[in-house]
Amino acid sequence: MKGPDPKSFVTHLECAATGERVPAGELHGLSPAGRPLLVRYDLEAARAGLTAAALAARPADMWRWREILPVRNAADIVSLGETETPFITLARTAGRAGADPAALRVKDEGRLPTGSFKARGVAMAVSMARSFGVTRIAMPTNGNAGAALAAYGARAGMEITLFCPDDTPAVNFGEMSAHGARVYRVNGLIDDCGAIVAEGAAKGRWFDLSTLKEPYRIEGKKTMGLELAAQLSWSLPDLIFYPTGGGTGLIGMWKAFAELEALGLIGPGRPRMVAVQAEGCAPIVKAWREGRTQAERWENARTEAAGIRVPKAIGDFLILGAVRESGGFAIAVPEDDIVSAQTEAAREDGVLLCPEGAATLAAWRGALAQGLIGPADRAVLFNCASALKYALPDRSTPLDRAAPIDFGAL
Ligand SMILES: Cc1ncc(COP(=O)(O)O)c(C=O)c1O
Repeated sequence: MKGPDPKSFVTHLECAATGERVPAGELHGLSPAGRPLLVRYDLEAARAGLTAAALAARPADMWRWREILPVRNAADIVSLGETETPFITLARTAGRAGADPAALRVKDEGRLPTGSFKARGVAMAVSMARSFGVTRIAMPTNGNAGAALAAYGARAGMEITLFCPDDTPAVNFGEMSAHGARVYRVNGLIDDCGAIVAEGAAKGRWFDLSTLKEPYRIEGKKTMGLELAAQLSWSLPDLIFYPTGGGTGLIGMWKAFAELEALGLIGPGRPRMVAVQAEGCAPIVKAWREGRTQAERWENARTEAAGIRVPKAIGDFLILGAVRESGGFAIAVPEDDIVSAQTEAAREDGVLLCPEGAATLAAWRGALAQGLIGPADRAVLFNCASALKYALPDRSTPLDRAAPIDFGAL
């Protein structure tokens, strides 16, 4: 990192369920109670240096938030260029649905290294793992997180082992292997892969980097919320539609907004957080509808949106808590609506969304039609990966260059 090295104001970590504190300077997985750990900072002390003016003068990447990130020593940062990601309006798509054309925006996370927002969380977690001397890491993955870990692990010179459901998108297998990771296809879902990783970690084979089973991926993902607030001149949108698998990004953004308020950068207003899932795998939506604080495992999970095919999320109580506190909701979308949303944004606005991103557009359309949101509500959809990481339907027509071409028919 260039320029002066701002100090991290990390103080300790705290169990998200019991509040029990653990020290910051040690390697941690889950809390002593077996629940996710959250990193805490001295926000009062950080306030003096982390002003809007100071932030504006720093490079526009996720490391500009160093005061409220856990990395203490800049030399530990493992970076591939985690740039700020843009907002893109879906003006025609919004207009066709009867909404204000300026009200619907996508935050396009596909621009990050390895083509997905997983770069944020993994860059942070690998940097922290390196600071603690970890050299072997394993993770269960639906594809994008594994691709990110393979890349950051290669950069850090670590041994990376990845376990994926056997129908993970093909490109992801290619990416993971290209970076030299050891990749296993498991005949099960991501939580089945997670059980293998946990067993290996318990045997001392590697460090388990599963989402929310270590405390730092969420700290990387929270930069989505920090960045979004700064880009919108500290005025948050009315709604955030987030494609929810493990929910790390949603929980992270919710944490980010609380920290920004404590820093005096935003007021008490919050966006309504909307957890979007596919009808074929909607444990959070089911729990939300039933008024529960935790979700049951979803059996026979199915959806083409691989990143949100997560039958059981360890941070379910945090996702449901944030959604409820924000006055938001959880919504499930049919598979066909994901496809039609992807087609519409691509054709009408030139924005090719990944299936998970398209699910958020389908959810926005559904919520508008059901009157859950208004046509002037400023909504941000998260497109968390580049669509080019997925197989896209090929609608081309074969053409024989040796035969006469009827140009009138083309
Ligand atoms: C493209 C994409 N969108 C959304 C998600 C879900 O993210 P989270 O685990 O933060 O809910 C994933 C996770 O794999 C993903 O790859």
